[in-house]
Amino acid sequence: MNRIPIWMDCDTGTDDSVALMLAHALPELDLQGISTVCGNTIQDNAFWNTHRINGLMGTSYPVYRGAEQPLMKPLVTAAHVHGENGLGDVELPVPEGAVIHEEPAWDAIYACAKRFPGELRLIATGPLTNVATAFIKYPDLPGLLHSLSVMGGSAGPGNDTPAAEFNFFVDPHAAELVMHSGVKLVMCGLDVTLQAYFSVEQLDELAASGTRAGWFTKACNMRAWKILSRFGMPGFCMHDSCPVMYVAHPELFEGEMAGVVVETRGTVANGKSVTDLYSDKQFPFKNAFVVLKVDREKFIAILRDCILSIG
Ligand code: RIB
Ligand code: CA
Repeated sequence: MNRIPIWMDCDTGTDDSVALMLAHALPELDLQGISTVCGNTIQDNAFWNTHRINGLMGTSYPVYRGAEQPLMKPLVTAAHVHGENGLGDVELPVPEGAVIHEEPAWDAIYACAKRFPGELRLIATGPLTNVATAFIKYPDLPGLLHSLSVMGGSAGPGNDTPAAEFNFFVDPHAAELVMHSGVKLVMCGLDVTLQAYFSVEQLDELAASGTRAGWFTKACNMRAWKILSRFGMPGFCMHDSCPVMYVAHPELFEGEMAGVVVETRGTVANGKSVTDLYSDKQFPFKNAFVVLKVDREKFIAILRDCILSIG
């Protein structure tokens, strides 16, 4: 099988960690490297947490530091969901011999794209600050990539404000720049990621599997569950696993091309991804494939098997 080269840009938090395990374990994918961005937690945590997930998986994927702050807004983290340390306050060791790369995220992403011209799938599971910075510094990068698949935005309501999804709210300027970069873009927003959840029983099964990966998947979500269960959420949304699964198994998903613009000046709607999916008035462009549906049963079965395969 010709494996698909991918690069992950994460604000390694809890669901980012599960997405990294999925990216590692899916046989269709060939993870080339990981860059870290501020978002769920500060850059330092995102960076060392990614090394910690390498340790949990027994891998040594290269990790590159990116932005310490969003392009223009002050950083607002999600410690109430992802804990002070970004991993739901679960303690994991940094693996011995973790290699520290001095090259910044945007340079490393570009160098990898040059190695796989037209083939590299960039997958972003946090605010798009690193991706936007890379596109600013390397204007040929959007055309060099096969595609960019993001977890972010929402054609419907938000989760950080009534209007905006967290990743786009943290850095709306980066999201808006990326939306109009010309990159082939797949947007896995809340419209689909809220369907992609482990039930409490399924998470308990993972934890009872006797694998560290299964144990961690439940443990890191326990802090968030205290809040999310109060909102009547059906389970633990694996938001960040959606763009990863889409790259390997697009057949599990449905969506539509749409015009998408991100609000950068508003107050109430700051960070809102405005799409023309449901309006008579259409934007004069279709710049993103907006994913709207997933076969949850198949999604969860593949994700579960991948987590258990890590051990
Ligand atoms: O809105 C969900 C997104 O915000 C996910 O990427 C989660 O990790 C947080 O970053
Ligand atoms: Ca994330």
